[in-house]
Amino acid sequence: MKSKLLIVDDDEEIRSQMKWALRQEYEIVLAEDRPSAVAAFQEHQPAVVLLDLGLPPQPGEPGEGFAALAELLTLDPHLKIIIITGQGEKDHALQAVGQGAYDFLPKPPQMADLKVILKRAFYLAQLEKEHREMQQQVATDSFQGMLGNSTAMQNVFASIRKVATTNAPVLVLGESGTGKEMAGLAIHRCSARKDGPYVAINCGAIPETLLESELFGHEKGAFTGAHVQRVGRIETAGGGTLFLDEIGELSPTLQVKLLRFLQDQSIERVGGRAKLQIDARVIAATNVDLKAALEKGTFREDLYYRLAVVVVSLPPLRDRAGDILLLANAFLRRFAAENRKQSLKFDAGARAGLQQHPWPGNVRELENRVKRAVIMAEGHHVTAADLELADALTGVAGRTLKDARESLEVGMIEQALEKHQGRVSRAAAELGISRPTLYELMDKLGIKR
Ligand SMILES: Nc1ncnc2c1ncn2[C@@H]1O[C@H](COP(=O)(O)OP(=O)(O)OP(=O)(O)O)[C@@H](O)[C@H]1O
Ligand SMILES: [Mg+2]
Repeated sequence: MKSKLLIVDDDEEIRSQMKWALRQEYEIVLAEDRPSAVAAFQEHQPAVVLLDLGLPPQPGEPGEGFAALAELLTLDPHLKIIIITGQGEKDHALQAVGQGAYDFLPKPPQMADLKVILKRAFYLAQLEKEHREMQQQVATDSFQGMLGNSTAMQNVFASIRKVATTNAPVLVLGESGTGKEMAGLAIHRCSARKDGPYVAINCGAIPETLLESELFGHEKGAFTGAHVQRVGRIETAGGGTLFLDEIGELSPTLQVKLLRFLQDQSIERVGGRAKLQIDARVIAATNVDLKAALEKGTFREDLYYRLAVVVVSLPPLRDRAGDILLLANAFLRRFAAENRKQSLKFDAGARAGLQQHPWPGNVRELENRVKRAVIMAEGHHVTAADLELADALTGVAGRTLKDARESLEVGMIEQALEKHQGRVSRAAAELGISRPTLYELMDKLGIKR
């Protein structure tokens, strides 16, 4: 497809000459004054414009041409505008370049010169466009420090952006090591409270008796050992965000107290009388199945529904196709730099091992394995052994390609069937094959239905 070129000149004859000379290489769009140039630009979005500075209503003056230059560059700051100048107008041309024009040529232009300049302008515009797109690509691979290119993570980023604008409590769910704390911080940082405090507390790590005063604070003399008044974490989080990790570990008593806070945004310090109004947004996180805890009666239903106004679910790493190597490489670069082993790369066996491992410990496990491997690695490569992973490639050494392929097929099919409770059509969809093909493969490989 030909690139579009907009030619702006009030002289009908020059317009048609140029069109004639350039029509082979470019799709030519013509305009004769500023308003029609702007309209043509908006309709066709060319990457390059040839602009005559002397435009009507006063073709003897450059004023209208400068106005057109400015207007076009506001519409698209990356636009390459080449000025065509009449005799004795070189000063104006230089001035135009100072205001953002890409280049200039005297009138009437030498067609050979013009063609070279145009070619270079289009080439540069294309390069710059690709560069911008690549940068955007890189930017969307990560969000507030969280890496993820998979659809699953892109959805998480989108829901974090959405919930960040509200004040509603959020429940962050996910297996251990999936990035729940990172998600909590990301929500805070994207919210209007980002300049306020972010206070995180792990409800599972502190004994119940201490946790109460840790969360709510206490007055002097509230209990033995309470020598001074103490401000609790909820109070500290005022104007900001309170992150309650391992919320499933909260005792029944504290569940009630937390529920009260969520209902009327007020607390009482232990041993205190006064109600304190606190404006803290609550984000709770857990890696246990809270629904099961509800059924068992160990977690209050009313508290659950208060907390779970919005739920952000972090997918396990094994469900984030494509993210494993992205994360592994990011961790490798970080730890390699820390250990002055910048040249380290994963070898093929390591890459295969990383892809095959089921990652029960998710991103945290990946991070730890890479960290250890960087220390263990000798030479320029990190191997599967350095990662303490089964080397998926040497595992098949000594076997035929057919054997290796079959055992991989068996593994993937069984995994897909298990994931979809034996539903063949869903497993087939996940594997990217048709249902009949999957049945055929199952027969061939001896997989039971
Ligand atoms: N998407 C991600 N991109 C980069 N690093 C990540 C990502 N997710 C998690 N991590 C890293 O993995 C580690 C575990 O993350 P985090 O502590 O947020 O997980 P968690 O779900 O809170 O884990 P746990 O259940 O064990 O408390 C951290 O070091 C974090 O920096
Ligand atoms: Mg955590």
